[in-house]
Order: sequence, then structure tokens, then C-alpha cells
Amino acid sequence: MQTNDSYSFDAIINRHKTNSLKWDKYKHQDILPLWVADTDFKTAPVIQKALEERIKHGIFGYTRTDQQRNQVVADYYQKKYGCHVEADWIVWVPGIVASLSLAIRSLSKQHQQVFTPDMVYPYLHTTPAASGKQANHLAMTYAEDRVRIDINALEKRNAKDVRVMLFCNPQNPGGAVYTREELQRIDAYCETHNIVLVSDEIHADIILDKDKKHIPYIDISAYALNNSIVLGAASKAFNVAGLACSWAVIANDQLRQEFKNEMHGIISEINPFGYIATLTALTDGDEWINSMNDYLRDNRDFLMAQLNAIKGLRMLPLESTFLAWIDVSELKLEDPCAFFEAAGVGLSSGKDFNDANFLRLNFGCPRSMLEEAVKRIKKALA
Ligand SMILES: Cc1ncc(COP(=O)(O)O)c(C=O)c1O
Repeated sequence: MQTNDSYSFDAIINRHKTNSLKWDKYKHQDILPLWVADTDFKTAPVIQKALEERIKHGIFGYTRTDQQRNQVVADYYQKKYGCHVEADWIVWVPGIVASLSLAIRSLSKQHQQVFTPDMVYPYLHTTPAASGKQANHLAMTYAEDRVRIDINALEKRNAKDVRVMLFCNPQNPGGAVYTREELQRIDAYCETHNIVLVSDEIHADIILDKDKKHIPYIDISAYALNNSIVLGAASKAFNVAGLACSWAVIANDQLRQEFKNEMHGIISEINPFGYIATLTALTDGDEWINSMNDYLRDNRDFLMAQLNAIKGLRMLPLESTFLAWIDVSELKLEDPCAFFEAAGVGLSSGKDFNDANFLRLNFGCPRSMLEEAVKRIKKALA
């Protein structure tokens, strides 16, 4: 695996005056923003260079996507995961959240319900209702400190009136990378109950444990290939979320056409910068992403050692993502998020993900910033 230590993940980059959602939340306050899931790293130099070239052109009209570029995505799945994808299975969408809604709308009828993990990225909870469907939560398990859908419980679930299951792999928050065996059991359940699974794989390229491997859901079986929608993007891994570009892999012609029909009049073309950034990431981003994962692994290990030495905090081990999931229930705080904000550390409330015992901390930042956050946390709890 090629890595390069010369990328400057240690650099502190001032993000004020860039309309940053993450940093403007605490504008003029001495609070380190470790909440929303973008990192404080500059994107890969190859991406920045490709964007600069495009900007120099000066004309930024509508983007046309084509088969040749779709093949870049297909080749990526083959190279990275050994998974066969065909160019015409790819549908470009400005964002994954939009695709969750499009999938629910195109796949299910009015009276049908949507299965979704009980503890997960909030839009997997809210898009069913926003699409006129009822969300039906699937129990999680924290066994062996891996947060994931409780598959034993799932296998006992009645799936009457359920056509769609939303799924997040790697799991955010918690960072579990589902194993092939786990995916096979979920797929077997879906096949038995004629369910189409929508797999949000936005964090797929941020794998911290070297012995873990992301498996695209379509790689699991012939049923999964024909009855799933896999959602991917370079946005999290390469820190280009603001450029609004993602793709859906839909092998089944009919499902793909119905998904596209839902886009009509609602979803516009993807923007040219997002498209260029994504294609560059997939063709030339490997060395950079490997280096970032090395950096994140060290950040994770540092944070884990520090936080777990503090009485009342328990950070769960995580296999993927830059989002630590920290159990603060022992502290018995009325409002844990507000408590740490007052200490100068801005975290995401576990309530947003449906588990108020936890806080989420984004460690995708320079080490010195993380060290300062740990210092503040220790001081607040001393
Ligand atoms: C699991 C997951 N899905 C989707 C998104 C957002 O995707 P997009 O910005 O492409 O809509 C995020 C952002 O944090 C996420 O963590």
C-alpha cells in the first residue's frame, strides 16, 4: 500500500470566512468544532490541481455525464473491491441524502414502511417520513463493542408491508465495517421478504483497521445485485462534501429507470467541480487516502487511550470513519453536549442519532487540535 508522509495533515488551516457549516456554528466563540462530518484537512493535491485547471477555464455551464466517465467508477469498484460494476448502472446525484429520498419514493408504495437502523446518521431516520412513508426501526447490538444492526433480532422481524431497508455501511456512528457473513445474513432476510436494500456507503474508503475490508453490498449475491441500490461518493474521504456529487449503483434496469423517473424536475445536474473532484479521487487518490487513513488511525488510537483513561468516559473502538462514539452515561449530565461546549469542545449530541447516552466526536483534524480538545475535556472533568 503506497502512502506518503509529506501530506500536511498536521497543518492548521483557518476556515473562518469560508462559510463553513462546521466552523461558523461557533463563530467568535472559543469552542473547537468537532461535530459535523467534514475534516479539517486540505483535499488531495491532485484534486486541488484538477479543480484549479477547471477554474482557469472560466465557463461553468451544465455538466454532461457520460459512459466513459461512468467507466471510471466501474473500474474503481473492480480495482478497489474486486467487485464487478457496469458503466450504465451508474446514476449521478448531487448528494447521498437526496438519493435516500429518491430510493424510498421510487421503490415503495404509499402504505409501505421502511426499515432503518435504530441508531444511525439522522437522515436515515427522517427521509422515510419526508417521503410519506413510515420508518420502522431495527434494533442495534453493541456486542463486542461493535455497533451494528442486531441480525439475530432482524431475522425474527415481521416484514409485512416493508419493501425498503435503509442501511449504513460502514456504520455511522460507531464505525463498524460489516463482514461478508453479516451482509449475507441480511441479504438472505431481504430475499425471503422481497426487500430492496439501500446501502449508504459514503464512508467506505475510510477504513482504519488494516485487517478490515469494505464490501460493496452488490457483491454479496445475485439477489443483492438485482435488489439493492448502493450509494457512494468521494465526499467524506476526500473532504469535498461541499462540491455536491455522488453516485448510485443500480444494476436492475427497472429499479434504475424508476429511480431516474423520481429525479425528474427535482434533481439538477451535478456540479462540474464535484464531478472533477470525484473522478480525480477515483483515478489518482489512492496514495493520499492511504496516508490520511494512517493519520486518522493514529488520531483514533491517541484519542482512545486518552479518553478511556478518564473516569466516566468510554470511547468505543472503531474500525472505520473519523467519528468517535463516546459513552458518557456514567457522568449523569443533564445535557452532555452543552457541558462540553461550555468546556470549549463542540461535539454532536447522541440524541441526534437516537442514543442519548453517547456523544460523537469528529477526530478528522490536525493532531494538535485533538490534543487541545482532550486537554479541555480533562480539565472539565477534573
Ligand atoms: C452516513 C452518511 N450518509 C450521508 C451523508 C451526507 O451525504 P451528502 O452530503 O452526500 O448528502 C453523511 C454525512 O455525514 C453520512 O455520514
